[in-house]
Amino acid sequence: MSVGVGMLGCGTVGGAVLRLLDEHSDDVERRVGRPLEVVRVAVRDAAAERDLPLARDRLTADPLAVVRSDDVQVVVELMGGIEPARTAILEALRLGKRVVTANKELLATHGPELFEAAGATGAGLHFEAAVGGGIPLIRPLIESLPGERLTRLLGIVNGTTNFVLTRMTEEGSSFDEALAEAQRLGYAERDPSDDLDGLDAAAKCAILASLAFDTRVVLEDVYREGIVGVSPEDIEFARRLGYVVKLLAVAELEDGEVAARVHPAMVPSDHPLAAVREAYNAVFVSGPNVGELMFYGRGAGGAPTAVAVVGDLVTAARLAAEGRPGVVFPWEARRGIRPMERMESQYYLLIDVVDRPGVLAKVAGAFGANRVSIRSVWQEGRGDEALLVLITHRANEGDLGRTVGDLRSLDVVVEVRSVMRVEGEE
Ligand SMILES: NC(=O)c1ccc[n+]([C@@H]2O[C@H](COP(=O)([O-])OP(=O)(O)OC[C@H]3O[C@@H](n4cnc5c(N)ncnc54)[C@H](OP(=O)(O)O)[C@@H]3O)[C@@H](O)[C@H]2O)c1
Repeated sequence: MSVGVGMLGCGTVGGAVLRLLDEHSDDVERRVGRPLEVVRVAVRDAAAERDLPLARDRLTADPLAVVRSDDVQVVVELMGGIEPARTAILEALRLGKRVVTANKELLATHGPELFEAAGATGAGLHFEAAVGGGIPLIRPLIESLPGERLTRLLGIVNGTTNFVLTRMTEEGSSFDEALAEAQRLGYAERDPSDDLDGLDAAAKCAILASLAFDTRVVLEDVYREGIVGVSPEDIEFARRLGYVVKLLAVAELEDGEVAARVHPAMVPSDHPLAAVREAYNAVFVSGPNVGELMFYGRGAGGAPTAVAVVGDLVTAARLAAEGRPGVVFPWEARRGIRPMERMESQYYLLIDVVDRPGVLAKVAGAFGANRVSIRSVWQEGRGDEALLVLITHRANEGDLGRTVGDLRSLDVVVEVRSVMRVEGEE
């Protein structure tokens, strides 16, 4: 007897999943122990023409009808968004059906509720495709690394922003030119605001931080800045100082608390993350025993993401076929969340000052008064004014904020033009 699969959504990822299942049906059957059969598929428009290896009468516009169908044992949610995905997944779990999802937005906002429902019936909720597309990341973090107490995770987890920053860095493109090219090549959606504002990366950061530190981190716990404020000047200074600018997801364990944030950062050009170009993704984790590990690959796209979905589907279907309970990540709040004010980083500052003796001492005084230690300074004369470029040692975010406030009130400071965090160095 086959294992019945119900799919919710059949777009970029769902369509690629159907094609993989069709092409690799023998392999899948061997690994599951039974054939898989996609029996019902929900889409928004069931009447639309589709080029899919699927009989038309299996399409419906009702996700709950798929979930409740008696011949569906495993539900694969690939609609995206919060509703109706949340209601449909909760219903599937309540009925004891296994669920596979790629929905990072839903997991990052309602993960605890979903995993509680999965735990209540032992159904299992699999989500390898939710972060990093085709990169195996979720399972290694949950299953391969419990022997380690990870201390830090740095990730490039959004392909659109990495593509834009790569083009600005390597070709000197403006932000708008780079974004237009990303859209032309299909790396950016028509409305790319969730990517550019760091929202997509923050959802992934919440999931990764939860897994890395075995606790509950949700989207609203993640501090977030997007890449819209990154200027060609920042990128040029980064290059001259030996850095590249990346949108980073950072999750750290500091004094037992989790600090999670997404923002543009300068990364040393010899750091492995600096070599992650174009729309590629990578996650770099470190711990005292394992040292440093990097997971790298295509973080999005129908085909790579479908590989991760099918991997989860095979596991879920095998457990269902064997009548074994599903694997559930507890997502319990075991650790506090460190507010941004108390997080630490190194910082780069670009400051316009008047060009006269004693300026550097006044500027340095503002740093010293707020306990921020300067690691290096460059000065460049520009007529009556000078440009100061400073890199600090690791400092507290609140202290740095107060330093910037004090700098702005100094008569020798014309403008604090840019402040950016520096990661991957100390
Ligand atoms: N695309 C990627 O590279 C990628 C990578 C990693 C994770 N993901 C995640 O994978 C999921 C799917 O992404 P996608 O790119 O495949 O999306 P997509 O191409 O927009 O496909 C969405 C599918 O869901 C259906 N759908 C949407 N709302 C529905 C509703 N209310 N009722 C029934 N069906 C509904 C759509 O129906 P119609 O076909 O009729 O419009 C479509 O088939 C999302 O959670 C996304 O974040 C995507």
